[in-house]
Amino acid sequence: MTDHRTISLNDDRVIPQIGLGVWQIPNNAVPTAVQVALDAGYRHIDTAAAYENEEGVGRGMRELGIAREEIFLTTKVWNDDQGYDEALRAIDLSLKRLKVSFVDLCLIYWPSPGRDLYADTWRALVRAREEGLARSIGVSNFEVEHLDRIIGETGVTPVLNQIELHPRFQQRRLRQTNAQRGIKTEAWSPLGRGRLLTDPVIERIARKHERTPAQIIIRWHIDSDVIVIPKSMNANRIQENFAVFDFALEAEDIAAIGKLDDVDGRIGPNPMTASF
Ligand code: A2P
Repeated sequence: MTDHRTISLNDDRVIPQIGLGVWQIPNNAVPTAVQVALDAGYRHIDTAAAYENEEGVGRGMRELGIAREEIFLTTKVWNDDQGYDEALRAIDLSLKRLKVSFVDLCLIYWPSPGRDLYADTWRALVRAREEGLARSIGVSNFEVEHLDRIIGETGVTPVLNQIELHPRFQQRRLRQTNAQRGIKTEAWSPLGRGRLLTDPVIERIARKHERTPAQIIIRWHIDSDVIVIPKSMNANRIQENFAVFDFALEAEDIAAIGKLDDVDGRIGPNPMTASF
């Protein structure tokens, strides 16, 4: 049996701790991936307007006949749509493509400090929540100054901050920043875009537990109280990534993974300087 673990958010809602990430899954392939995931027990799908697969995500969810309320659905406002009116329009379009009346979580994708619109965008998300279009609201790739600005200007704290996080880039300081503000941490590229799956330390721990490297890393995220959204469009791997509750990491495993942290371990863009 698969476990269905949830994390409590600061708005009294809960999020399933493992979700299916669908970045780079084409719109025509995503319905099958979503259905394989839902069949495997996932109840959390993470998409974004920028992935250009919201239509397929919505279709995959509907075709399986699972009640909308049972699936935690996240989307994100893209950088070009930042600004109060623009973000509200973008959320409306996301809902139309997904063919849903609400998302469970709407995120600002990047702070994009060069635009200096993330505070207005946050106000739009607050409004979207008041209107019931997004049940919870949060951010992605926000650093401490971005978090403190939106909280200071609106009094509304994001429920979570979705950031690049994997054993080679453990983000200890930002995780602590999030935790101090009651913000949960969610990991994107939790497998280091797959690159960590051949790490000798991870492989050794995997052999010991007779599990795969991906399962070891996902379990490490789970035990770190992090919400995790591994991406896969392969049915076996989607199932494998959810089957992580029937074994436990030992203290020595967690210590060994802790040592993989690397200041240069970032794979994706730096939110402070990203200019897209
Ligand atoms: P695929 O979609 O072909 O399964 P991340 O979530 O860190 O971005 O990693 C995603 C990458 O890891 C994708 O290339 C994905 O490829 C691959 N991947 C996901 N799950 C597994 C798994 N269980 N075993 C091997 N590769 C995986």
